[in-house]
Amino acid sequence: MLFLNLIRSTTFRVAMVYLGVFSGSAFLVLIWIYWSTAGFMARQTDETLNAEITGLAEQYRQRQINGLIPIVLNRSERHDGSIYLLTAPTRRRLAGNLSSWPTTDEIEPGILFDFKYDAVTPEGTEVHDARGRFFVLEGGFLLLVGRDVQERLETQNRIISSLYWGLGLTILIGLVGAIIISRNMVSRIDAFNRTSRDIMGGDLSRRVPLSGTGDEMDQLAQNLNAMLDKIERLMVGMREVTDNIAHDLRSPLNRIRSRVEVTLMKENDGDAYKDALQETVREADELLSTFNALLAIARAEAGAARETMKEISISSVVRDTAELYEPVAEEKGQSFEVDVDDLPPIWGNREMIAQAVANLIDNAIKYSPEGSAISVTLKPGLKGALEGRDSIRLTVKDTGPGIPAMDRDRVRNRFVRLELSRSKPGSGLGLSLVSAVAQLHDARLTFSDNEPEKEVPGLRVTMIFPAYDSQAA
Ligand SMILES: Nc1ncnc2c1ncn2[C@@H]1O[C@H](COP(=O)(O)OP(=O)(O)O)[C@@H](O)[C@H]1O
Ligand SMILES: [Mg+2]
Repeated sequence: MLFLNLIRSTTFRVAMVYLGVFSGSAFLVLIWIYWSTAGFMARQTDETLNAEITGLAEQYRQRQINGLIPIVLNRSERHDGSIYLLTAPTRRRLAGNLSSWPTTDEIEPGILFDFKYDAVTPEGTEVHDARGRFFVLEGGFLLLVGRDVQERLETQNRIISSLYWGLGLTILIGLVGAIIISRNMVSRIDAFNRTSRDIMGGDLSRRVPLSGTGDEMDQLAQNLNAMLDKIERLMVGMREVTDNIAHDLRSPLNRIRSRVEVTLMKENDGDAYKDALQETVREADELLSTFNALLAIARAEAGAARETMKEISISSVVRDTAELYEPVAEEKGQSFEVDVDDLPPIWGNREMIAQAVANLIDNAIKYSPEGSAISVTLKPGLKGALEGRDSIRLTVKDTGPGIPAMDRDRVRNRFVRLELSRSKPGSGLGLSLVSAVAQLHDARLTFSDNEPEKEVPGLRVTMIFPAYDSQAA
């Protein structure tokens, strides 16, 4: 199975094509090597033969048979691998070191041919391969000149067999290499497949393992993992929202339903119905605003609102929002101070920032008693407040009860309301939205005591926004 996968893999096929091209060229190189070694030796033998025959023919022309015989006798003595046979027209041997005429069929005068003969060696006589040519001299004499090619043939065979081995080894090593490379590749792709199957099976926490080499497969895995991280975050966010909706919206809905039911069961006059309906409308409004808040938080947290961000004047957003709350504070007998500098724009979403500021001011007014002092300020951030970037600092302060240090992280979660505030209206989503908006704008959100030395310290909420750098954007 794994082997089948291997053979079907793209890498293996690419490796095979490469191997084909490579062995093809290796084959050509080997042919060339053969041609320039063994082939060269063969050609040289033939040339030597031809030269010698030409020489001997010349001698014959000049000195006739009586001059040729001693020359052939003389040369036959040399034992240098040359073979001679000079015969009368009757094929009677006149001179030479070849005992009898070769038995090879179809030999024609003037044509090179291969034959076997009994060679005399120090170890006795052996049958050797030879190559030669004969021709008919004037007067019917036959002259055969040849060369012992036994040694040359052996060398040639050795060359051929090493060429075969070379080619075979090339193919074998290439094949092994192809298998190793594609197995490595296939196993890494398999890891991708396994991970995606597991994820499809419901385990969203699975990630593709990295090999640690930082190659393109690792980069692919990294990107895939980053994508999975993002999807997982979104899914978890979605699940939280659904859970929240299921838990926290069910009871108000039940309440509405039972009141309507109870009202319907009793014999009531018009006023009672009217009261019940008004109460229902009020609760429905509350439900709607909870829904909207949940959706806004989810949108901010998912980063979907990032696409709607643009250059906005934070000074005007804060000023406009604070203005809306001034009468509310006054009505509650609280002093309300707004100190907003005209500052350069930031990169953000106007509605979201306005909602966050409104939530903070709403809390300050709601949770602080009559006579408290509330202030909203927008100032340039202190140098170094945001890792060396220029920043803008929004502060909303009150002189109410404040939030104890141990609860400051908790209040950012959805539906968290502190014990003291249960009597006040609210759904516990205000600070969750503020926190999500801060995250969306890369702003830093901190809660602290407004007046730490006092018994009732008040709350100071600070949001530090990064200044918008049009150069960098
Ligand atoms: N200015 C404040 N002073 C004291 N407590 C506060 C203040 N702002 C928020 N809190 C506490 O944090 C909780 C969460 O606030 P929030 O998320 O706005 O929800 P909600 O106002 O609907 O209760 C509040 O219930 C309250 O207990
Ligand atoms: Mg609130």
